[in-house]
Amino acid sequence: MMKKWSLLTICLLVSVSLLAACGQNKNNSGASANAGGKTGTSASSAPEESAASKKLVVGMSADFPPYEFHIKSADGKDQIVGFDVDIANEIAKDLGAELEIKDMQFTSLLNELKSGRVDLVISGLSPKPERAKEVDLSNIYYKAEQAVVVLEGDKDKYATMESLVGKKIGVQTGSIQEDMAKEIKDAKLTKLAKISDIIMQLKSGRVDAAIIEGPVAESFVKNVQGLAITAAKPVTEDEGYVIGVKKGNTELLNQVNTTLERLQKDNLIDQFVQKANELAEQK
Ligand code: ARG
Repeated sequence: MMKKWSLLTICLLVSVSLLAACGQNKNNSGASANAGGKTGTSASSAPEESAASKKLVVGMSADFPPYEFHIKSADGKDQIVGFDVDIANEIAKDLGAELEIKDMQFTSLLNELKSGRVDLVISGLSPKPERAKEVDLSNIYYKAEQAVVVLEGDKDKYATMESLVGKKIGVQTGSIQEDMAKEIKDAKLTKLAKISDIIMQLKSGRVDAAIIEGPVAESFVKNVQGLAITAAKPVTEDEGYVIGVKKGNTELLNQVNTTLERLQKDNLIDQFVQKANELAEQK
């Protein structure tokens, strides 16, 4: 008899804790997975639940002016700004959601998206076919060219892509610039997590050149002394920038595309870019 009771108690305890764990899981994933849900459906659910479901978590690698970067605001607080941040804000606004930005390494972004820890990746992301297999990609919201950045005195020396053969090239790990640098014969790649680290390597002469997104290259050249963009033009097939959404989350993908369409129609993205460039110069 005694034995039966204790077995029953254990069973009860186990099922209670399992239930609790289930409930917790639901709440946790609900915060992000529902961010793209219809706002209309929240009317019927409990108030705490609808508040939680109205959070949009966006992942980005904030080393990338004017797309996303850190500044100190007037009161000395660290802040992430940039035109990707403005776009994120507009998407959140259209969804009726509160925006949360998660700053992380560029190489982690797609995994975080796949696991549902972020709802969107907005990070100057190029539409690489391999990425489209892993996550869903929005329509293109902006286009830019690629650039080769060198020390000012080397500007003429590295005026063509051929001049980079056998040279030491700095690129961001996991970026399409890494793919581009691999195409250069005998190039020795230095792969780093942050663009600012690549710039430091360039300044100290440890790499000869860096391949960087045009607008980012311009921002660094404008704000760091002694650098220049050369006439060399790296080319890529993965042109333009897109937003990453978890595979199969069609509803959120459609909402993202609707916001992007609105921003493009009203010419807002160009305005965001201009504003971001001004902020980057003040920093
Ligand atoms: N456009 C390049 C790519 O998608 C680089 C993007 C890097 N973004 C960043 N926020 N650091 O691979």
